[in-house]
Amino acid sequence: MLLDVQGVSTGYGRLTVVRDASLTVDAGEIVAVVGSNGVGKTTLLKGITRSLPITAGRVVLDGIDITGTKPNQLAGLGLGYVPQVGSTFPDLTVMENLLVSVRGSLSTARERCSRLLARFPELERRRDQAASTLSGGERQMLAIASALLSSPRLLVLDEPTTGLAPLVVQQRIDDIRRLRDEDGAGVLWVIEEHPRICLPAVDRVYFLSDGTVSAPMRPADLLEEGVLEELFFGVRA
Ligand SMILES: Nc1ncnc2c1ncn2[C@@H]1O[C@H](COP(=O)(O)OP(=O)(O)OP(=O)(O)O)[C@@H](O)[C@H]1O
Ligand SMILES: [Mg+2]
Repeated sequence: MLLDVQGVSTGYGRLTVVRDASLTVDAGEIVAVVGSNGVGKTTLLKGITRSLPITAGRVVLDGIDITGTKPNQLAGLGLGYVPQVGSTFPDLTVMENLLVSVRGSLSTARERCSRLLARFPELERRRDQAASTLSGGERQMLAIASALLSSPRLLVLDEPTTGLAPLVVQQRIDDIRRLRDEDGAGVLWVIEEHPRICLPAVDRVYFLSDGTVSAPMRPADLLEEGVLEELFFGVRA
């Protein structure tokens, strides 16, 4: 098992937002977390990626207990995290944003970044443009590309498709699938918008409601008529 989250509680100071959350991600698997605005999806990811304190439970990454690990050590352990907002440097160019994520000599780093950019033609065309001049979708793509430079075995994505046009959403989904299929990575993906477009690409899904994580579900079951509406709004369509 790549990621094993066992009974984790986390939040802000004395405010516990996520309680007793358990979920797993296997290598080569795309796992989604869905839930309405404000239920604690981002908080859960921050707990897992160790940027918020965990008050109960533990997080195990590929057999290693990372409950006490610092966030800046996680890339070295194979975990890449793309937060919901603000993970690119607006004043740096696309290429410079990528270069800061790579260790080693400048020439090796440049070569790695160029090879990665070949997988993202929209970014390659803008390699010398400041990140602040990119569209929201392009900036998300850059954040994902930066995370890929540490060759993560587990990629944690917080709403990578929110605010994007449906055609661009489909491109992001193709990128995520490629990670699973070509790189054999596991993906933990928070979906809030476009569940009907995103869920068919997912292997397993957890529903988060009021800080509590459900048992894993099959995406096809959520996509049956009326189920999402009932989960999100408590009504049967
Ligand atoms: N820094 C913070 N300090 C205190 N409370 C916070 C903080 N950040 C978030 N919260 C609260 O925690 C709860 C969960 O927020 P969170 O951002 O995890 O929700 P979310 O499910 O990711 O929502 P969205 O879909 O809008 O991104 C909310 O009630 C929010 O107000
Ligand atoms: Mg969020």
